Amino acid sequence: MKIIAGNWKMNGSIKELETMISDLNSIQTQNTVIICPPFTMLNKGSDKVSIGAQDISAHDAGAFTGEVSGKMLSESGVKYAIVGHSERRMYHSETNEIVAKKASNAIENNIIPIICIGETISEKEDGKTLEIIESGLRGSIPTGASKDNIIIAYEPRWAIGAGLTPTSDEIALAHDLIAKILESMNLAGAPILYGASVNGDNALEIMSISNVDGVLVGGAALKSEKFIPIIKAI
Ligand code: PGA
Repeated sequence: MKIIAGNWKMNGSIKELETMISDLNSIQTQNTVIICPPFTMLNKGSDKVSIGAQDISAHDAGAFTGEVSGKMLSESGVKYAIVGHSERRMYHSETNEIVAKKASNAIENNIIPIICIGETISEKEDGKTLEIIESGLRGSIPTGASKDNIIIAYEPRWAIGAGLTPTSDEIALAHDLIAKILESMNLAGAPILYGASVNGDNALEIMSISNVDGVLVGGAALKSEKFIPIIKAI
């Protein structure tokens, strides 16, 4: 069984989400399917499709205009929350420390954080990919994490939305390292997703790589005709 999560970013509408959920309800799959739509559409899940948020506040409550707490998300039926997505790290200056606080807030509210890590193009060119993966993991996973209450997503930042993917060997190297580091943190078995430019054509190959437990999909998760082939690939 694999985990297939769709990140809608700031796209879609309630009507489009309802269509997607109804399309997903009609397919047979053993895989876990998650859709992470914008905050205004969070109460739309079904037995077959879980809903995730794209962010969560690092704070519990109070004077934090524009933020949404773990308790509020949980009350809306949210089961997962993406934390530390590269676009949050890039446009909102989120550091590993902030990401760890957000992940901790999720866990405290019975929401599974999907903790994103990955290298930029300059870090890749400088040969720092594995170093960034290690510091991202050690810095972004909060105390209180267990193998059952977190998901890791390795997303090479240069490949997101770019139609580019690392080679299968590069993905295997990254995921094997992540598995090893998780083991050293007593988190062996926590699911590890790959994300960045996943589509119906490459999903099977990517999900067949060792230590790839599923995928986090952006652009190809917006329409059922592109998302369903990824769910059905394996
Ligand atoms: P992409 O996005 O599939 O469009 O590359 C992935 C992501 O941002 O999670």
